[in-house]
Amino acid sequence: MLKSKTILLGVSGGIAVYKAVELLRLLTKAGATVHVVMTRSACEFVTPLTFQTLSGHPVHTELFNLYQEQEIGHISLADRADLFILAPATANLIGKIAQGLADDLLTTTVMATKAPVLIVPAMNTNMYENPLYQRNEKALREVGYHLLDPVDGELACGWTGQGKMPDPQDIIAAAEDILTSKDLTGCRILVSAGPTREEIDPVRYLTNYSSGRMGFAIAAAARRRGAKVTLVAGPVQLTPPAEVEILAVVSAQQMHDVILDCFDAADVVIKAAAVADYRPQIRQQQKVKKMADDMILELEKTPDILAELGRRKKRQILVGFAAETEKLLEHATQKLISKNLDMIVANDVSAPGAGFDVDTNIVRFLYPDGRVEDLELMSKTEVADQLLDRVRLAWQKHE
Ligand code: CTP
Repeated sequence: MLKSKTILLGVSGGIAVYKAVELLRLLTKAGATVHVVMTRSACEFVTPLTFQTLSGHPVHTELFNLYQEQEIGHISLADRADLFILAPATANLIGKIAQGLADDLLTTTVMATKAPVLIVPAMNTNMYENPLYQRNEKALREVGYHLLDPVDGELACGWTGQGKMPDPQDIIAAAEDILTSKDLTGCRILVSAGPTREEIDPVRYLTNYSSGRMGFAIAAAARRRGAKVTLVAGPVQLTPPAEVEILAVVSAQQMHDVILDCFDAADVVIKAAAVADYRPQIRQQQKVKKMADDMILELEKTPDILAELGRRKKRQILVGFAAETEKLLEHATQKLISKNLDMIVANDVSAPGAGFDVDTNIVRFLYPDGRVEDLELMSKTEVADQLLDRVRLAWQKHE
């Protein structure tokens, strides 16, 4: 998402400048070209050389520096940006921008840019709560600037409260959000993710290796693109994506009940969950004791949720997943047809880079008319966006 984007990073003087260094590192790692503008006081905290080394470009500090002006110039800096991030943004910087002042290179560049501006405040908690500061923040939001809320915690000045700069990862997520076109606005997407657990007794259960990452990546990407997302998640160790409704379930039966409740309100259902196909016929009330050398566990089928949705569907777009270890196309096609799906995402979970517990996947998209699209190895987030590109086209056709 940030690949080949040009980002201007404006750094003003506060102790959180050291976190801007990490932010710069993550931005460049994500493939963005970053140009840094620093205020004079920011240079007191960390030298421009650090930012220059990590960005691979000269750092801009002076409004009237002939050499810098000839090379790039603040107008040209402002013009070339896809996004302008101000991190950390001091109360002083925010106050100046809110008043329309432009008395140094950073404020002049902010004034001159047409790019979206993401302001990341960091300051003492009393300054943050000051009504004058709050008035400035409100004024900036009203005219379209994006502002992140500072986080609560121990501040460098000794106070505890709201005022800390958010983690660089959260700033990156906000940047990606701003740069993403909201092409799924109005679309209600129901996603399932993770494994299910089928209890044998109070201390044991049947499950599978699903980590839930694919489904979580789809939910996060759909939300970023403006969809209203409900994520039905089995037991996973993942941080839920922001602004997504999370419905936690444990067993296949619970997943079935929750998904059926939500089905009528959904435009699209994406079933990335690895649902257990069988559960113990009887769930023992007490821990099963070790007895004979052999033991037989009687199992019964769980409901096939997706097959049931396929029977019930009216206008919904149904997307299934087929995680296979052999005969990928054959098995996936059979599921696509028998479950009445609009699309199935097939992946060979035994291939390197395509299993349950990795961040990448290699998938094929299959359609009822026999078309097959092969995708390269890519991150689960990229797979999610590729999938949502197809979903969007199908949804727009339905509308
Ligand atoms: N699925 C489901 N309910 C089940 C089993 C599977 O909704 N009880 C869904 C999965 O979420 C997935 C698709 O059906 O989107 C295919 O799941 P998979 O486990 O690959 O296939 P099964 O139909 O269970 O067949 P098999 O296990 O024999 O491969």
